[in-house]
Amino acid sequence: MSEQQVYPVPAAFAEHALINKDKYQAMYEQSVKDPDGFWGEHAQRIDWIKPFSTVKNVSFDTHNVDIKWFEDGTLNASANCLDRHLETRGDQVAIIWEGDNPEQDEKITYRDLYTRVCKFANALKGQGVRKGDVVTIYMPMIPEAAVAMLACARIGAVHSVVFGGFSPDAIAGRIVNSDSRIVITSDQGRRGGKAVPLKENVDEALTNPDVKTVEKVVVVQCTGGDIAWHEHRDVWYHDIYEAAAEECPPEPMSAEDPLFILYTSGSTGAPKGLKHTTGGYMVYASMTHQYVFDYQEGDVYWCTADVGWITGHSYIVYGPLANGATTLMFEGVPSYPSHSRFGDVVDKHNVNILYTAPTAVRALMAQGDDVMGDTKRTSLRLLGSVGEPINPEAWTWYHEKIGNGECPIVDTWWQTETGGILITPLPGATDLKPGSATLPFFGVQPALVDAQGVELEGAVEGGLVLLDSWPGQARSIWGDHERFIQTYFSTYPGTYFTGDGARRDEDGYYWITGRVDDVINVSGHRMGTAEIESAMVAHKDVAEAAVVGYPHDIKGQGIYIYITLNDGIEADDDLRKDLVKWVRKEIGPIATPDLIQFAPGLPKTRSGKIMRRILRKIAANECDGLGDTSTLADPGVVDNLIDDRLNR
Ligand code: PRX
Repeated sequence: MSEQQVYPVPAAFAEHALINKDKYQAMYEQSVKDPDGFWGEHAQRIDWIKPFSTVKNVSFDTHNVDIKWFEDGTLNASANCLDRHLETRGDQVAIIWEGDNPEQDEKITYRDLYTRVCKFANALKGQGVRKGDVVTIYMPMIPEAAVAMLACARIGAVHSVVFGGFSPDAIAGRIVNSDSRIVITSDQGRRGGKAVPLKENVDEALTNPDVKTVEKVVVVQCTGGDIAWHEHRDVWYHDIYEAAAEECPPEPMSAEDPLFILYTSGSTGAPKGLKHTTGGYMVYASMTHQYVFDYQEGDVYWCTADVGWITGHSYIVYGPLANGATTLMFEGVPSYPSHSRFGDVVDKHNVNILYTAPTAVRALMAQGDDVMGDTKRTSLRLLGSVGEPINPEAWTWYHEKIGNGECPIVDTWWQTETGGILITPLPGATDLKPGSATLPFFGVQPALVDAQGVELEGAVEGGLVLLDSWPGQARSIWGDHERFIQTYFSTYPGTYFTGDGARRDEDGYYWITGRVDDVINVSGHRMGTAEIESAMVAHKDVAEAAVVGYPHDIKGQGIYIYITLNDGIEADDDLRKDLVKWVRKEIGPIATPDLIQFAPGLPKTRSGKIMRRILRKIAANECDGLGDTSTLADPGVVDNLIDDRLNR
């Protein structure tokens, strides 16, 4: 094995693991040689109402991208997460809910969850929700968020979960794009001891004149805080829930019927709603959850993501529940009431598997080696990482200080578009190298290409593409299949382009190097620089804006904005504060700029294109070696930018 330190699979782990080295090899080979045979067999992990006869029917042809799996089968996602477990594990805990306030928690059995989902599904029907309707969910991390998702799935409604950190404008855009008729929210959310005004944000979103479709807003009472009430439109969750019948037969859905839409940022334009369908997604989410986390009967599994992101969809709700797992849902943040909260929760609920993001690890690491206090964390046997590259230093700290040096770490690479994990260690099969996502999951065929799209062999770096489909892949962009093709299948025709770069080492291990497009990754949150720029230039004092990411110790990347003001506007700290507030209002707190540099001029080519390469270097405080600036219309602006740079 090459490269720095290698962590071999611990013998004790391999002994009990679901997949060991030999098994991985054999299964991987079968999965790529005979995808129909492999997936036809593994799709049996899901209960089908009507069995499928075709496994895979996929074209990555740029003129006709068409992705179908198990297309003539029918199933219901909620029945797979609930009904089929009732006989064998009705009394087992399905969801452990841990409140923001450490004194609040709740355990919900599979039978309880089943009843809650059936009742709420009936309640939604009573509000006029029908198969195929889009339901927007804007909720805190409370059990009702999962109940709402599963209730939609039960009746064939398509959910569109919007992360609670998005602003009214961002909610409005997503509602308009999806023609959603119902919004489910709560009065407020709680995070780190503070109230989050969710209902108020929805109210404001619905004042946007473009929002014309919403008929009902269902409100869960969470904090009991004061909210405005619109009689004709707002209904309390508990009112319609109490009144609803307990039996709700699951709607048979075609494998290719949409299960959900999830919006994510790209390098251009407004966020796009990725369309995920039912059959392939359920097969892939459940299978990856089981094998990547080596999930075994009785394990308590905790993924710290929010259900507003794909990680929450696949690895808090659908994957674990399809597997009959006990999944922990955490309302709070790692720093409240103290920085040992992760350790407290692990000890309190005897968590065996912990899946979190590098940014959380780095934030804890910054608090010092004693940050976990008196917590023991001896129940842990596996750790996971997701959302951004994990630097080897953070990996090692995570391994030692959270996992007591005993738990393998699965560094899982994937995307909203991929539905589930694609490149990852399997903990009983893969020797680990800190910082590498290692090897492809079953059926996944990564390749590296040069700028011309020529596939590169051996140990090299290049653009990361996938040569063939896997069942969990997104099928389209909601309402815009052409954009789907353009974004993912036109750069390197015949392949799916991820937007990431990667390096492969002599052992065939993949090391993700980050986005190669104009997308930045801030604390594991994906953002389009174009989206932030367009928010900025909508401000009355801004003439032009350029946004780049720069290395940030805790967030991975920070948001650095260069701004040219309109003539006559004075650049001062008040304006800077106002601009920060503006972005938070336009997009949401997750897009809060870290540094704003006022720049009288931006480096442009003679044809007027902003040279981001230079802006990225200056933001990174790498002012030597800016490369060739001779093609700039006015090379002088670069010196000014360097003089005024903020990250020193
Ligand atoms: O750049 C990669 C990074 O996050 C992007 C996907 O973001 P999103 O769709 O929000 O999904 C995040 C959760 C799956 C990818 O294009 N990324 C995600 N996981 C990793 C990663 N980069 C490096 N290593 C990872 N493990």
